[in-house]
Amino acid sequence: MVLLIRQARLEDGETLRGMSHIAGFDLAKELRVGGAWAMVALRSEELIGYVLFRGVLGEWDVINLFVAPDYRRRGVARDLMASALEEIGLQGTATVHLDVREGNEAAIALYHGLGFSDSGRRAGYYRKGDEDALLMKRVVRGACPDKGAPFAGG
Ligand SMILES: CC(C)(COP(=O)(O)OP(=O)(O)OC[C@H]1O[C@@H](n2cnc3c(N)ncnc32)[C@H](O)[C@@H]1OP(=O)(O)O)[C@@H](O)C(=O)NCCC(=O)NCCS
Repeated sequence: MVLLIRQARLEDGETLRGMSHIAGFDLAKELRVGGAWAMVALRSEELIGYVLFRGVLGEWDVINLFVAPDYRRRGVARDLMASALEEIGLQGTATVHLDVREGNEAAIALYHGLGFSDSGRRAGYYRKGDEDALLMKRVVRGACPDKGAPFAGG
């Protein structure tokens, strides 16, 4: 499968909106929030996955990660996250935080495989289903510690 993975741009609006109904999340709108940026996976111009981050230099939160059901289990999420972590590392050393439903075995296995470690738990965090959130984090070592430029496009 030939995939293009790159940072999302504001002018991607229509492409990004195409997935909002299945993801239940308006990526185009979320990208307009300060401190937000995303990596997208495209297959022939069709958006098939994304990961959205928010934060400031050195401290990032994974806000949403989603791969279209037809394209799951083909390494798309791993490639998206690996590209995003590489991009983060280019800006200097950073800590990436995330939370995940304790029952989301797919995402937990993915994040552990990417080097995230457990950092805590929030009881009953997800009201729907009354599930705990597992907190995870990973330190990304910077390739170029003093670059310091903010991400573009979000
Ligand atoms: C979680 C999600 C992003 C994974 O996307 P994906 O592209 O299918 O994941 P990948 O193919 O890159 O999988 C990478 C690794 O994650 C783990 N993984 C992914 N899906 C899995 C599943 N259904 N069961 C168990 N492990 C799974 C495996 O370790 C896998 O490596 P392997 O295929 O070599 O065994 C996708 O299932 C999704 O969009 N789910 C709904 C939204 C969601 O839960 N997002 C995360 C919120 S925190």
